Amino acid sequence: MKTIIYYFTGTGNSLAAARKIAAALGDCEMISIASLQNKPGDIVPAAERVGIVCPVYDAGLPHIVAECAGRLDLSQTSYSFGIVTLGGTGVSALHQLNGIVSRKNGKMLDAAFIVKMPGNFPPVGKIASPEKQQEILNAADARLAEIAGLIGKGAIVPPGFSPVSSLMRAIVYPPFFRNVHGMDKDFSVTSACTSCGTCMKVCPVENIVMLKDRPSWLHHCELCCACLHFCPAEAIQLNVFFGSKGRGRYRHPDVKVPDMKAQKGEQV
Ligand SMILES: Cc1cc2nc3c(=O)[nH]c(=O)nc-3n(C[C@H](O)[C@H](O)[C@H](O)COP(=O)(O)O)c2cc1C
Repeated sequence: MKTIIYYFTGTGNSLAAARKIAAALGDCEMISIASLQNKPGDIVPAAERVGIVCPVYDAGLPHIVAECAGRLDLSQTSYSFGIVTLGGTGVSALHQLNGIVSRKNGKMLDAAFIVKMPGNFPPVGKIASPEKQQEILNAADARLAEIAGLIGKGAIVPPGFSPVSSLMRAIVYPPFFRNVHGMDKDFSVTSACTSCGTCMKVCPVENIVMLKDRPSWLHHCELCCACLHFCPAEAIQLNVFFGSKGRGRYRHPDVKVPDMKAQKGEQV
């Protein structure tokens, strides 16, 4: 059975998760959601099985994923699934995804899963130690193998429910969704910047240009934080809540700069 997985990632967790599911299922094509951004109109996957894999932002979906899911026409698909990766809580993102998919297709996802992976938003939670990250990634691998087994069997798995996540989605997600594109005003760059341009290369939505050898953000940000985490000099800071200075950086160990460029459909 052919599968298509649509994915979005900022620091590699969701890409690594999508790859693991794809490898376990076999005959699977992975399509980056970022690469579909400038191709308007319905997305009609020619595959019996379709999945969406992405991170949770503010207890909901990344803006770009919500937009893409709203264009997904599943008329040629017999089984669909969603997987969200998260650092703490956010099953409500799956309810949001179900709502979007069912408004378009008259049916919800057949299966919906959360996978806990290392958190990547230092202004709210300090980045875990390397040992803790490894522990979380090992548990995620086991969970992904279990999820792939369920998908392979065509299991029907409704998302769970968390009152905390639902409350967060009701309170913090609407302003996030409205304002996210302009939230890049809170990024800054320090004198540690070496003008290497990595931030520009990894940004999935081409939101960064180099101006006078320094990154400049163009206000169509997804707040994925790829620029923050991939900067080899740790020169980029995010100045909200507790800030990002001295609070650690994170990238999934299997995801490198060329993978982030490939997400934009760039040749690498
Ligand atoms: C802007 C932003 C908001 C986030 N909000 C949540 C959240 O509400 N709940 C949660 O558990 N994790 C949250 N996270 C953590 C990510 O969902 C998590 O680390 C995810 O696995 C990152 O996936 P990626 O590496 O594919 O980008 C947030 C991360 C960012 C950047």
